[in-house]
Amino acid sequence: MNNPAALVVPRVQTAIASAFGNEFRETDPVIRPSQFADIQINAAMALAKKVGVPPREAAARIVAGLDLDGLCTSIEISGPGFINLTFDGTWIEELLNAEVAATAAGAETGRTAKPQRVVVDYSSPNVAKEMHVGHLRTTVVGDSLVRVLEALGHTVIRQNHIGDWGTPFGMLIEHWLEIGEDSPEAALLVEDPSAFYQAARAKFDNSADGEDGFATRARLRVVALQGGDAETFAVWERLVAQSKRYFNAIYRILGISLTDDHIAGESSYDAHLAQLCQELENSGIARVSDGALCTFPAGFIGRDDQPLPLIIRKSDGGYGYGTTDLATIRYRVRELQANRVLYVVGAPQNVHLRMVIATATDAGWLPDTVEATHVQIGNVLGEDGKILKSRSGAPVKLMALLEEAVDRARAVIDASRPELSDAERAVTARQVGIGAVKYADLATGHDTEYVFDFDRMLALTGNTGPYVQYAAARIRSILRKAWVLAAANFDGGTAGAGPGSAGPGGEGSGSEGSGSAAPAAIAVVEPAERALALHLLEYDAMLEKVGKFLEPHRLCGYLFELAQLFTAFYDQCPVLKAEAGVRESRLALCALVLRRLSGGLELLGIETPENM
Ligand code: ARG
Repeated sequence: MNNPAALVVPRVQTAIASAFGNEFRETDPVIRPSQFADIQINAAMALAKKVGVPPREAAARIVAGLDLDGLCTSIEISGPGFINLTFDGTWIEELLNAEVAATAAGAETGRTAKPQRVVVDYSSPNVAKEMHVGHLRTTVVGDSLVRVLEALGHTVIRQNHIGDWGTPFGMLIEHWLEIGEDSPEAALLVEDPSAFYQAARAKFDNSADGEDGFATRARLRVVALQGGDAETFAVWERLVAQSKRYFNAIYRILGISLTDDHIAGESSYDAHLAQLCQELENSGIARVSDGALCTFPAGFIGRDDQPLPLIIRKSDGGYGYGTTDLATIRYRVRELQANRVLYVVGAPQNVHLRMVIATATDAGWLPDTVEATHVQIGNVLGEDGKILKSRSGAPVKLMALLEEAVDRARAVIDASRPELSDAERAVTARQVGIGAVKYADLATGHDTEYVFDFDRMLALTGNTGPYVQYAAARIRSILRKAWVLAAANFDGGTAGAGPGSAGPGGEGSGSEGSGSAAPAAIAVVEPAERALALHLLEYDAMLEKVGKFLEPHRLCGYLFELAQLFTAFYDQCPVLKAEAGVRESRLALCALVLRRLSGGLELLGIETPENM
């Protein structure tokens, strides 16, 4: 860990202990950003109260024992007792170069000291239904969280809890049998799942409910399916397989890391539900109320001021969403051996999931050593502030939405970079269009709603995917030019910015063009370089927080600021035109910024364009 603020902490704690006694050794120094220095320490105020001295005096006592030789050039008390610290530029430079060297040697940044087994339930769309923008967001946020948790060194187990079971499957199977597997209507399952579902639904609703009526047959199908009838089961499997093709097409265009291996849908728990209910009934946690078996976890009160039930067996004997979800917790803890279970699911399901978690706790299936969390995903709204719908009022087709994003990005790149080949522009348009949609999903707190707005998400200014991608693409272009220049100068003996220091491979693990040369040392001289260096040294601490609080928007905020600081640096400090020596240092700095930008984007599941 090369984070200067973190490295200062033990020194401050030593000073606090010597000023107020050893019992204060563990005091949190309360480090905050400072307007006047690099950081400020705010612990003096609370300590002053505890020991009964004026706050400024408490601050003075801490400072008296504070040894920051070689770390800080200035220690000042201001206001009611803030201690302002300014880091020594030489130390910052050392820390940054140590980071560059470690990275060049293949060290992974930000590994946790306590690796866990984390089960992440995300995406989880429903068979024979369109994935809506809400599913898009749980998919995108969940995929970023698994990437971050893996980068931190945790073992992540992805679970795609698809909705593949329940009464609607009666009508869906009947409909499928009626139209025939090779009919154009059956193809809708992959091309327009909502239309397929609506057609089955319409038949069901309009069926004259006679003996041979569609509705009757649909009901019998449910019974056959749940009774394990082989023929019915085979049809169901075909139906699910078709839907998976649709999900996978969406995952592919989005670059989502889910595969069929991660699918553990509702149906996979079916065999365990009867026994699960029995267990809860035997232990007295569940009881029959109005014919249905329910649990009433403490603290959940309905509108009628009565305890809220979690129904686990309906009065007709069927199981529901609550039952399968109890089974998921039990399975994830017992079989998957999770230390942490995350449900990346829409915010409207919060009460349901909290009731499930409470019941599982009561049942002893969720020991307090295992943390279960609902990562709430806020709704995605249309410009009218309501759930996003197409103009006709039908659910938005996700594929069409993604295609539009790519088309819009294509129009921009066609106009701005006509000299690029058609193929190059197509690649960039895909990376920028998809990246913009994903970034918009990630950049706002995951539990807040936001308005889906193409113009805003594709803008080249502000906290957007394209802005961050543009900064990275710009550095790639700088490094390419440097490499060409260096190659041209190579014969003249001025290795200068040789391929070794910052070739096109400068951001990679030193594969391309890394040669044997060590990366050039970075000199931190100009204020813009210093600001960039300090921000770069925050990377590990930031990533740790993203994993702890499950907040990818912190990573977006970090990258946005990094891109801004880079832009300021590039405005103020010439790179390619800088004198020899300075040029190599700045190129090395550029390479590190690029590595963090593209590495960070990768953790968001977003690609970095070569040209933009
Ligand atoms: N299929 C559900 C839906 O579309 C989401 C499932 C989320 N995961 C879970 N374990 N409940 O609303």
